[in-house]
Amino acid sequence: MKLWGGRFTKPTNQLVEEYTASIDFDHILVEEDIRGSLAHVKMLGACGILQANEAETITAGLEKIRERVRAGEVQFSVSLEDIHMNIEHLLIEEVGPVGGKLHTGRSRNDQVALDMHLYVRARTVEMIQGLLQVRKALCKQAEAHVDTLLPGYTHLQRAQPVRLAHQLLAYVEMFERDTERFIDSYKRVNTMPLGAGAIAGTPFPIEREQVAAELGFDRLYENSMDAVSDRDYLVEFLANASLVMVHLSRLSEELILWSSEEFGYVELDDAFCTGSSMMPQKKNPDVPELIRGKTGRVMGHWVALMTTLKALPLTYNKDMQEDKEGVFDTVATLIGALALTAPMLAGMTVKAERMRQHAEEGFAAATDVADYLAAKGVPFREAHAVVGRLVLHCLQEGTTLSGLSLQVYRDFHPSFSADIFEKIGVEAVADARDVRGGTARNRVLDALELKKKQMVET
Ligand code: ARG
Repeated sequence: MKLWGGRFTKPTNQLVEEYTASIDFDHILVEEDIRGSLAHVKMLGACGILQANEAETITAGLEKIRERVRAGEVQFSVSLEDIHMNIEHLLIEEVGPVGGKLHTGRSRNDQVALDMHLYVRARTVEMIQGLLQVRKALCKQAEAHVDTLLPGYTHLQRAQPVRLAHQLLAYVEMFERDTERFIDSYKRVNTMPLGAGAIAGTPFPIEREQVAAELGFDRLYENSMDAVSDRDYLVEFLANASLVMVHLSRLSEELILWSSEEFGYVELDDAFCTGSSMMPQKKNPDVPELIRGKTGRVMGHWVALMTTLKALPLTYNKDMQEDKEGVFDTVATLIGALALTAPMLAGMTVKAERMRQHAEEGFAAATDVADYLAAKGVPFREAHAVVGRLVLHCLQEGTTLSGLSLQVYRDFHPSFSADIFEKIGVEAVADARDVRGGTARNRVLDALELKKKQMVET
């Protein structure tokens, strides 16, 4: 017999039962569901809607069920549709008909909204913690590689030399903004929907504020129709998560490129790589590849939920049950990606010599040679053209800007003198970017201090 079976004359079609049930995935909400019910029944007792002994019996019953669930003794049933009705059914089995009073003044519509708010609120904190681990790992490597220079790239072509610390701190900035986004969305997820009933509120004299205080919510939904149909907080969570994945994916892509023989900039820890079943020499960067690969599915969950919501009339519609799997999968995917990225970064070996060699042998100092002429009064456009010809000359001769003699420089432009060679070493080029946010050594050290301070604050 269904908990709602009263108005029905036939049992539910078996396929319908399976099609509409959500217990296969919403069992994840079991802790939240019981916690929400405990707060609800406490309030019902305190407000005199239930008698004190009834509230006590129900409370004890819920606690018992929670213990049994934790001990793995409970089997949920598809015919009870979802986690809410499974728990209510278990409660009635446990304490008898008085268990049926738990649902007084409440609907599954505000109940499921409450559960999801509790769930996402806690996971938001977990995401922030996971991000902190990644930020720490990046800062640690940055600290070790202030004096490691590599070519910075644009269009994946060598552009200007940068300190490795500078490049790693760029990712710290991204993950810091991701953290801020979660901190900001936390404000909205920390709003309590319970008390909305099915749609319009409840005639029982409930105390919503009391439940909110009990569950640590710092505000209430002020409109019952909004409370049961709002899924913005899930969209925000998925959007924030998508951006985290995009950032992790870009970082992963660099590690994949950098660990290739062609780049040879890093070597990932053996414990974080896998081999090939056929090619004995292979060491594959599966972890960053999978992080990159899983990014699409998290973005997909965001798009899927937006699409589900876009034409739904108020208020609850069964379509909304589709909000859960994407969120649960996103949580699992992010937790995995964040948990692996931090130690993968920590365990990676940087091949500083190779990075430096590439920074030196490219034409990463070309801008500085042009700037040198510009500083001597040559119009930058003309300087640019002169250096372009110099680079072409080097390419034809198979040499580099630091391999040319002063005489050659002077053949290309009379304003060159011996001090040009001081300007084109990779350190000099990097340190010339002595602007806030630039890659000069002192600026990178300042940035590192600032980032470390900001990590303490979150
Ligand atoms: N399992 C449902 C969901 O996840 C719970 C709410 C059901 N409410 C209802 N009126 N059918 O959305």
